[in-house]
Amino acid sequence: MVSPSLLSANFANLEAEMNWFNQSSADWLHIDVMDGVFVPNISFGFPVLRHVARICRKPLDVHLMIVQPEKFVQEVKALGAYLMNVHYEACTHLHRVVGQIHEAGMKAGVTLNPATPVGVLEDIAADVDLVLLMSVNPGFGGQQFIPHTVEKVRRLRELLDRTGSRALIEVDGGVNLETGRMLREAGADVLVAGSYIFAAPDPAKACEELARL
Ligand code: DX5
Ligand code: ZN
Repeated sequence: MVSPSLLSANFANLEAEMNWFNQSSADWLHIDVMDGVFVPNISFGFPVLRHVARICRKPLDVHLMIVQPEKFVQEVKALGAYLMNVHYEACTHLHRVVGQIHEAGMKAGVTLNPATPVGVLEDIAADVDLVLLMSVNPGFGGQQFIPHTVEKVRRLRELLDRTGSRALIEVDGGVNLETGRMLREAGADVLVAGSYIFAAPDPAKACEELARL
């Protein structure tokens, strides 16, 4: 599956971007919300996303790179989001937050930064619907893929099988055809790609190629 990242879209022409996107083979739209505190950058917030949600015809995969993400469960729900991803590093009471996301009727995803080992998921894996592994330090599009992530996907696959978790594995950062292929072979289910898709001469085609890996 492929989840193109809105962060690399042309914000001055979102309607045109959504036109090709809605007709493409993309499975989800990946939405990166940043607060300038959890990550050293700010992207867009709910007023902008409400407009995007209205014209997007695919499930929204919301990735919150913010402190205290539990404060925004209702806002994310109001967008009609399919999946709400929160960072492990941003949640002191992760089990409670996962419960709140489920109560709001959304799928719950937990995201790990590159330096956070998959082992921290041991006691929550069976409760989540997806694990998002960051293959760059979050905050910016267009960064270099961290190769160690491929091994991390393999270890996560083992942990999920062992704990009886049915969570999907999603990977985000520096994904292109080459890194995407390695990730799929290691067991990744969903590939997020921003610059690779949106900077391509034919974004729909780039998306299709990733989807076929
Ligand atoms: C980075 C974001 C990513 C970003 C990926 O913090 O979480 O979703 O858009 O961009 P690329 O694919 O260009 O690395
Ligand atoms: Zn992201």
